[in-house]
Amino acid sequence: MTIDSYYTLGRSGLRVSRLALGTMTFGDELGWGASEETARQLFNAYIDAGGNFLDTADLYTNGTSETLLGKYVAERNLRDRVVIATKFTFNAEPGNPNAGGNGRKNIMRAVEGSLKRLGTNYIDLYILHAWDRITPAEEVMRTLDDLVRSGKVRYIGLSDTPAWYAARSQTLAEWRGYEPISALQLEYSLVERNIEREFVPLGLELGMGIMVWSPLASGLLSGKYKPDSTSTEGRLAMMKDSKNPAFQKMTDRNWKIVAELEQVAQEIGHSMAQVAVNWTVHQPGIGSVIIGATKLSQLEDNLQALEFEIPSELNDRLKTASQPEAQFPYFFFDPGMQGMITGGTTIQSKPREYYDR
Ligand SMILES: NC(=O)c1ccc[n+]([C@@H]2O[C@H](COP(=O)([O-])OP(=O)(O)OC[C@H]3O[C@@H](n4cnc5c(N)ncnc54)[C@H](OP(=O)(O)O)[C@@H]3O)[C@@H](O)[C@H]2O)c1
Repeated sequence: MTIDSYYTLGRSGLRVSRLALGTMTFGDELGWGASEETARQLFNAYIDAGGNFLDTADLYTNGTSETLLGKYVAERNLRDRVVIATKFTFNAEPGNPNAGGNGRKNIMRAVEGSLKRLGTNYIDLYILHAWDRITPAEEVMRTLDDLVRSGKVRYIGLSDTPAWYAARSQTLAEWRGYEPISALQLEYSLVERNIEREFVPLGLELGMGIMVWSPLASGLLSGKYKPDSTSTEGRLAMMKDSKNPAFQKMTDRNWKIVAELEQVAQEIGHSMAQVAVNWTVHQPGIGSVIIGATKLSQLEDNLQALEFEIPSELNDRLKTASQPEAQFPYFFFDPGMQGMITGGTTIQSKPREYYDR
């Protein structure tokens, strides 16, 4: 598999690369991003390698990410060649409750801002960034459908919502003839496998391709951090006092996973980052993995993640080391408990060949 082989996202007809380029590091407003010139190099290297899928959000680097992305796309006249995903939800104007969240007023405001910064008249994939706990799924789906019908948006997605909310939204779309959800954007890596419980079966069953964020757990799985290091280099070191749980990756459990990954990577002869991304790409339900970088050398490393296979014995070792703990009610669905339902017979809904065309 190479980056210039394209796959359809979820149940849509949108063709995307298995590796998307994350642009959360385009601009250095937050202190852990890349300069404008480095961001341009990252963009060009990804495009030259054959990638077509670019992920941003309205408030990444306070809007700079969208602005730079739009500029680089225009510089190479690539608008119809690339697939641009962007997002709304986070508040753009402190004190104004309708400048954030997933209500119609904010979505309509946010889409105009994104179109302007990106310098385009359409967004390929418009994604709700995070659940706001309040707006009914009916309102979100009707608004997103309106945007598709208006021509401002081609496809839609959800990020960081509960599984029940995504399932309800997709079912509403099916029953009311709205544009269906093509993508679920979620955190997934060797140290964060919780989406396997609900979201992977949800995406497979209801036709939503998972776009993975933080496949390297913000850089932890590159192996550059050590348990006893006092270095302040890299996002996780810089953000170690942050209250954002996405940056709290240096735990005893995770160090054990990193140690196993290091050994496996050595045995295969690839970098830890490549092995970590490769593992993520090949899990069930994964449509595309969003890779991020602050340096060209990092991106060049990560772009080679599709070029090898992890032997099954080493794959099993990674799987065992990173196994999430058993939780209710999911242990009811494990083969042991299911044996009490099947009476010891083997039941599959379809043989594997049924899906291979
Ligand atoms: N929907 C959401 O809620 C959400 C949330 C987060 C991200 N995202 C999307 O997902 C994209 C990727 O997320 P992420 O940046 O967290 O991904 P990640 O792959 O987990 O982390 C990327 C960071 O790790 C370090 N790194 C990457 N490759 C490396 C290598 N080969 N060797 C050493 N260090 C390396 C770099 O940071 P340093 O140089 O600072 O170490 C880089 O910025 C984002 O750009 C964004 O588009 C979405």
